[in-house]
Amino acid sequence: MTTVESDRSGHVHEPLTDQFLGVEFSVADHVAYYAELRARGPLLWNATQGFWVAPRHAEVMAVATDSETFCSGRGILTFEIGAEYASPPTMMHTDPPDHTRYRALVQPAFGRRVVKTLDASVREAAKALVDRLPLDRAVDVVPPLAVPLPVQVIAQLLGLPEERWDDVWAWSEASIPGTEIYADEARRAALNAEMMAELMRLVAEARVSPKDDVIGQLATTEVDGDRLTDDELAMFLNQLLVAGNETTRNTISGGLVALAENPDQWARLVADRSLVASAVEEILRWTTAVIYFMRTATRDTELGGVPVAAGEPVVMVYASANRDEAEFGPTAGSFDVGRSPNHHVAFGFGAHFCLGAALARLEVAAVLDALLDRGVTRLELAGPVGRSASNIIAGVTAAPMILHTT
Ligand code: HEM
Repeated sequence: MTTVESDRSGHVHEPLTDQFLGVEFSVADHVAYYAELRARGPLLWNATQGFWVAPRHAEVMAVATDSETFCSGRGILTFEIGAEYASPPTMMHTDPPDHTRYRALVQPAFGRRVVKTLDASVREAAKALVDRLPLDRAVDVVPPLAVPLPVQVIAQLLGLPEERWDDVWAWSEASIPGTEIYADEARRAALNAEMMAELMRLVAEARVSPKDDVIGQLATTEVDGDRLTDDELAMFLNQLLVAGNETTRNTISGGLVALAENPDQWARLVADRSLVASAVEEILRWTTAVIYFMRTATRDTELGGVPVAAGEPVVMVYASANRDEAEFGPTAGSFDVGRSPNHHVAFGFGAHFCLGAALARLEVAAVLDALLDRGVTRLELAGPVGRSASNIIAGVTAAPMILHTT
């Protein structure tokens, strides 16, 4: 690959970074592509749109843990470069002190106690879905398992009954760039309006008679006399749909594909259940559902020995960082359910570390446990794995496999 152009900043264009323009990815082999990025250097410039790409673990961590130097308020995806927001579209787009206040108000609703109260119902939901899967013949595990579980869990967070599960799914699809519904502008707008009206209704209800659930917690939590406004609460609930659905879905489907491709690793889980927790972490690293998020430098600085000027965006390629040999050693390219330590960045890192991490971990563990409880001895791929072309979400659209019990 030759470098062909530079821009007014004087930085040299790296054509490999063009994959982060727009929302479409056109790489056949993601793992090889990320390895190529990491080999090119710690920071690679895209002159077409003017952003840096950071493909290595060390720089991703440096950016993620310094929100003073690298802010989120100027967009977290490359198509937002240059956008001006009157108010932040999500909490992911906020910076201290707003983010710190916001986080203090929503964190309690995702605390250990609340996630613990969800444990039984998440496991029950996973078990019900797994118990309905056919055994010893081919099934695509995406529609009957990976899609409904996160939808059901989020519907539960919102206090919505079973007959609204389809709505929750459609609202989530309409909020995520790159999905089919997202491309249909009229349908998307209608779904968004419907969702916001429903969320505002739920907020009003929770204000009047809050229950001891996530939405009730969010409606009542006060920090130093401060609490979320109705608009903030509705915006946050909307964000749960975006943040918690496709991410978890693709982690589940991608994880099952990895286990089918590595039957020795499933055999280790069958032999030793205590490996489920580390298997969940390895699935998160291996699948890295969120491919990248972006920050913008607030001042002149330096990253990996490269000067970065104030105003320059930096793309943190989590999916590449999670395969970095400098962090994970010579086995970085192997799927190892017992990996320890496993400092992956699938949930990001620092101030914006995923708020739903405990819940997502619980969902993935619940699926593994339900499959083990059902006596699945081996997972075998039964057809081509479908992958989405998004450069934001590492989507697994089809995962046909046989769940063997003999
Ligand atoms: C495996 C599944 C998941 C993955 C891979 C994932 C990934 C991420 C990542 C990378 C971030 C960092 C954003 C940033 O740095 O700008 C994040 C933030 C966030 N996630 Fe998740 N997520 C998952 C599941 C969930 C779930 C289940 C929920 C809630 C129901 C959730 C809610 C959030 C929220 C609210 C934030 C924003 C936190 C902040 O800005 O302070 N996520 N997630």
